Parts: sequence; C-alpha cells; structure tokens
Amino acid sequence: MYSRVVGTGSVLPGDPVTNDDLVARGIDTSDSWIIERTGIRSRHLAPAGVTSSVLGAEAARRALEAAGRTAADVDLIIVATSTPDKVFPSTACLIQAELGVSGFPAFDVQAVCSGFVYALTIADKFIRSGSNRRALVIGAEVFSRIIDWEDRRTCVLFGDGAGAVLLEASETPGLLATALHADGSLHEILEVPGNIRDGHVEGSPFIHMDGAAVFKVAVRVLGDIAHEVLEQAGMTAEQLDWLIPHQANIRILQATAKRLHLPFEKVIVTVDRHGNTSAASVPLALDAAVRDGRVRPGQSVMLQGVGGGFTWGAALLRL
Ligand code: ACO
Repeated sequence: MYSRVVGTGSVLPGDPVTNDDLVARGIDTSDSWIIERTGIRSRHLAPAGVTSSVLGAEAARRALEAAGRTAADVDLIIVATSTPDKVFPSTACLIQAELGVSGFPAFDVQAVCSGFVYALTIADKFIRSGSNRRALVIGAEVFSRIIDWEDRRTCVLFGDGAGAVLLEASETPGLLATALHADGSLHEILEVPGNIRDGHVEGSPFIHMDGAAVFKVAVRVLGDIAHEVLEQAGMTAEQLDWLIPHQANIRILQATAKRLHLPFEKVIVTVDRHGNTSAASVPLALDAAVRDGRVRPGQSVMLQGVGGGFTWGAALLRL
C-alpha cells in the first residue's frame, strides 16, 4: 500500500501588500533592498479574524474539490502550523469542525517551516500502515500575528496563507521517499521565545532570527536532504521534474538548485508573490504550480522544508 496526492488547494488572504506598501506604512526599508536580499516583491496579510483555521479550512475545501471528494470521504486531518488559532484545541480539530465532520483523528504538527513536510510524512505512514485511507494534510499560517513591525530585519520577510493536499491510499506509489531531521541545539537561531504564564506573555511574542546563521544552515541541510531522498528512491537529480523548496528566500532556492546541478527553471518559485508563509509555503507553491499547468500528473516532484527547531525534511513524490 502506498499514498498518493490526488488533489491540491490553497488560499491567500486579501490583496498583495507590496514592498512599497510597507514603506508607505512607515517601515524603514526599500523595495530594492528587499528584492535584492530575498526576492520578495509582495506578500498577503490576513485581516483581523482571519485565522489559520479559516485559511486552512478553505485550502482543504479547494483540495477536496480538485480531487472530486467531500469532507465525508476523509478519515485523518493533520495541520502544520506555528500560528494556531488557540493554545488548544488544535487547529486541525477546528478545521474538522469547520468542514462539518467528526470522529476520525485530527491533530497539529509543530515543526515551523518544515511543518508541512513533517505532516505529509506522518500522513504517509498512517496510510501505508493501513490504519487510514484518506488524509487532508494542511499547512496554515498567520505569521503576521507574530511579526514585530518595528524590526525591519524580519517584518519584511513573512506572509500569511494556507495550502492543502488530499493524500489517498493507492496501489501505485505516489510518495516515493521521505526523510525528516532536527537539530534542537540550534533552537536559538530562529524562535518566538515568549509563552503564556499566569495570564501574561512572558518573553517576546515575536520572531527572533539570526538571519546569516539560518541562511548557512538552510543551504547545507537542503542540499544534503535532497541527495538523501533521491538515493532512497534510486533516482538522480536529472530525473527530477520539479523542486519545490520551502519559500524563504530566493537566494536559498538558487543555492539549493546549484548544489543539485538542477537548472533553476525546474524550481517552483512563489516567494516573490507570497513571502515566507512558513508551513504553508510548500503546499501553496505546489498548488500554484498544479493550477498553472506546470506540475502535471506522472511528474516527479521534490518537496523540501527547513525552519525553526532547527528542522528539515523532504518528500519525493510522483503526481
Ligand atoms: N531594509 C533595509 N535595510 C535592512 C533591512 C530592511 N528590511 N533589514 C536589515 N537591513 C540592514 C541592516 O540593518 C544592516 O545594516 P547595517 O549594515 O547598517 O547594520 C544591513 O541591512 C545588513 O543586514 P544583515 O542582517 O546583515 O542582512 P543580510 O545580508 O544578512 O540579509 C536576510 C538579511 C535577508 C534576513 C538574510 O540573512 C537571509 O536571507 N537569511 C536567511 C533567513 C531567512 O530566509 N529566514 C526566513 C525565516 S527562516 C526559514 O524560513 C528557514
């Protein structure tokens, strides 16, 4: 028994917010600085009340529609998010309620920007074990909630959105190989250190990042993990149709493609329009490329996540 992606969906809240819009809002930055360092031109920011569960449920509905299924066909929901609606219950439970179904397992996974690849890998194992047949795997984030708008080094980088896939049991292989890793000793290079204690937030509730350190680790681990899953699947980089890495920064994407000797035309890029949407970035990019006709049935695609923890992971699949 294997698992296979049979539908994708995504959603971005509101209109694009350009780099110049951020300057107009009083942030001490410029369009040229942001484009040159990150490749980001615009991002979407959720209005008040639009939470990860609202976005995640809509992305899930679109993935179900694309697969010709309904929520009643689903028997597992896994949501990757670092910006859950509430401390508890999980965003997955809220999405399950929003979709009007109940009974089967629903839970969140916390692996920051690697979250979607972690969630997909877990869903694959549930399906391969035979315990579940049809899983909604969702990455949903409202990172604008944890951005310090006074910190120009981080506030220009992130955006909000959600992406989802429907993963189904299949006689033929869809997910060909997966690998997950973490190095908790690097937890301080990217973190939101604050937490709730005695009714107050203790510590900063905003993203703190050592940008240069994150850049270095990200490039190293994304190259390593690409080779690891290719080897597992008995494939070479030349046989890859598409690479869909976590969309943090165009320079990280370029460096990863270079390490794989992969032409950059084979890399799906959405960071220019979405910014970094953390756990939502990979399923958002996958759905964009499926819907614009680039990623097609039968093609091989490598998904890659990397982020806080430090965590990283990859999934190699045939659509
Ligand atoms: N606009 C204008 N100037 C800025 C801005 C900004 N938004 N941000 C920083 N600067 C200034 C700094 O103040 C500094 O000025 P100074 O030299 O006068 O002190 C100068 O630009 C250089 O700052 P650095 O932080 O050294 O800039 P760097 O070249 O390292 O670029 C960046 C920063 C883009 C964050 C880079 O480190 C990077 O790409 N890191 C990867 C991290 C990443 O992508 N994180 C996303 C989250 S993690 C993840 O998803 C895996």
